[in-house]
Amino acid sequence: MNITAKTKILGILGYPIGHTVSPSMHNTAIKVLGLDMVYLPFEVKPSNLGEAVKGIRGLGMLGLNITIPHKITVVKFLDRISDEARLIGAVNVIVNKNGLLIGHNTDGKGYLASLKEEYGFTTKGKNIVILGAGGAARGIAAAIAREGARSITVANRTLSRGASLAKTFKSIFPHVRFEAISLNKDTIKAYLEDTHLLINTTPVGMKVNKDLKMPLSAMPKDAIVSDIVYAPMETLLLKKAAQLRLATHSGLGMLVHQGALSFKLWTGIDAPIEVMRKAALKALKMGGGR
Ligand code: ATR
Repeated sequence: MNITAKTKILGILGYPIGHTVSPSMHNTAIKVLGLDMVYLPFEVKPSNLGEAVKGIRGLGMLGLNITIPHKITVVKFLDRISDEARLIGAVNVIVNKNGLLIGHNTDGKGYLASLKEEYGFTTKGKNIVILGAGGAARGIAAAIAREGARSITVANRTLSRGASLAKTFKSIFPHVRFEAISLNKDTIKAYLEDTHLLINTTPVGMKVNKDLKMPLSAMPKDAIVSDIVYAPMETLLLKKAAQLRLATHSGLGMLVHQGALSFKLWTGIDAPIEVMRKAALKALKMGGGR
């Protein structure tokens, strides 16, 4: 890599940031395409977020990815945000357009792109259960609702948070049946009997081998069980689904496709998806993502 004064800077901003696999993914894509760019990880404490965002403009960077814990708080430091990011209430990509800082959210679209790629599955007319009601759940719910799902049931540990998501989204997507229920396996069982897709958006399954003990055997035989956790790639939830011969969908695809959509927003170039997937897998195998 030959870095000069002309090299354009991209990166990811989070706290902590030590094990992110995004630099491997993006720098491999940059190298394969022969672009004069570099993608760097920046560890920024919440108290320094505003100053760091100003630096995008000051240093003439092309843009940044934003990750935990800054996706929501970063919104107030931006000049504009896309309709999708406003609805979700969170930003995972900033684009520097001639000094104007614009926030986007590619999480939900990336999730749908990976489902389509792996299973040819579209959510139009489907019944979907989402576990969790945080930022990731909002991003995915927005994309699914926009695609025309029949029903979206949000099962969350804190019922009021799920109810608030359902209420907001119901008013924006009146054609989708939104419902909030508590994250209780007996309550969820009746919903799972008629569910095409179950998505875990909670961090349960990450690091420690735990799961939410969902009654997966109640699901139709052709249903898909999906987990946005990618480290480990096969969470306990997915392992149990596979044992029941249900189709499984890991978080790797969403990681790759949200990155590819970010890349396109910054460069205008279609990202080399397979190159990025291989790079992410390699970085994960070396202990990244944790
Ligand atoms: P993200 O942006 O990754 O979605 P978040 O906004 O902090 O992160 O949301 C995390 C989600 O996972 C929430 O729905 C949270 O439930 P609460 O609203 O009740 O906090 C859920 N979650 C986190 N840890 C959990 C656990 N141990 N069991 C069940 N749900 C959990």
